Amino acid sequence: MKKVVVFTGSGISADSGIATYRSEDGLWERYRIEDVCTPEALARNRATVIDFYNQRRRQLAEVAPNDGHKALVELEQYFDTEIVTQNIDNLHERAGSSKVTHLHGELTKLREESGEQYIVDIGVRDQRLDERAPNGELLRPHIVFFGESVPMFERAVEIIRKADILVVVGTSLAVYPAGSLVGYVRDSSVPIYVVDPADVKISFLRNPITHIKERAAEGVPKLVERLKNGELDNIKCH
Ligand SMILES: NC(=O)c1ccc[n+]([C@@H]2O[C@H](COP(=O)([O-])OP(=O)(O)OC[C@H]3O[C@@H](n4cnc5c(N)ncnc54)[C@H](O)[C@@H]3O)[C@@H](O)[C@H]2O)c1
Repeated sequence: MKKVVVFTGSGISADSGIATYRSEDGLWERYRIEDVCTPEALARNRATVIDFYNQRRRQLAEVAPNDGHKALVELEQYFDTEIVTQNIDNLHERAGSSKVTHLHGELTKLREESGEQYIVDIGVRDQRLDERAPNGELLRPHIVFFGESVPMFERAVEIIRKADILVVVGTSLAVYPAGSLVGYVRDSSVPIYVVDPADVKISFLRNPITHIKERAAEGVPKLVERLKNGELDNIKCH
């Protein structure tokens, strides 16, 4: 079976009602990164950071996967499909995707402040300020804050290197090192599909790039139809 790797960003969840990072009504229009999404903010003002992610979790309870997420589940019947996402929401899993790697952590999980030995899934409930791990350490959101290392990066590179087809959905590729992942495709013969209503800076790659300038909920199902109907049956499988 040919391997399709799908690299997603906040744009795929926009049609579910979760604000993207940079759009006009984006999250960061209302919050300063340095107040809610850095280790320094957590040390300086724990209550503000915990409350920010509690609000994100409450919102997660209100939204559902859209046709973009669902079409990627259908793709699994025709291709060995694997998702690498920058998103911290769980909409890919809730849609039914079986292979999802979260690069920037997961909103429904907490971990101890010093590492990732202890990770607990709290679903969409609020985190209490004084919640602790069995070893007594305070817990924090299992999210990669700005300025922190990205533990899953190497794993993501491995996955993207195996792609016979790369699909990029709803990411500006502006957040690094995540944005550099598209450069790890095996070679310049790997076809790349981009689904995004706006331009995405990817032309530095010499690969055959097809840009579907649509919202994910419309564009991804159309792309899945094209792939199902053998648009790429001629490409070699590695
Ligand atoms: N849902 C989430 O979990 C979530 C939400 C916001 C931010 N983030 C975090 O912020 C970082 C933001 O980087 P990013 O590149 O994802 O966000 P970004 O805001 O930089 O880029 C979003 C991209 O999505 C596109 N887009 C907007 N609406 C779309 C739609 N309906 N369908 C398809 N594409 C659409 C935009 O044109 C843009 O290219 C990520 O690393 C992520 O961790 C996550």
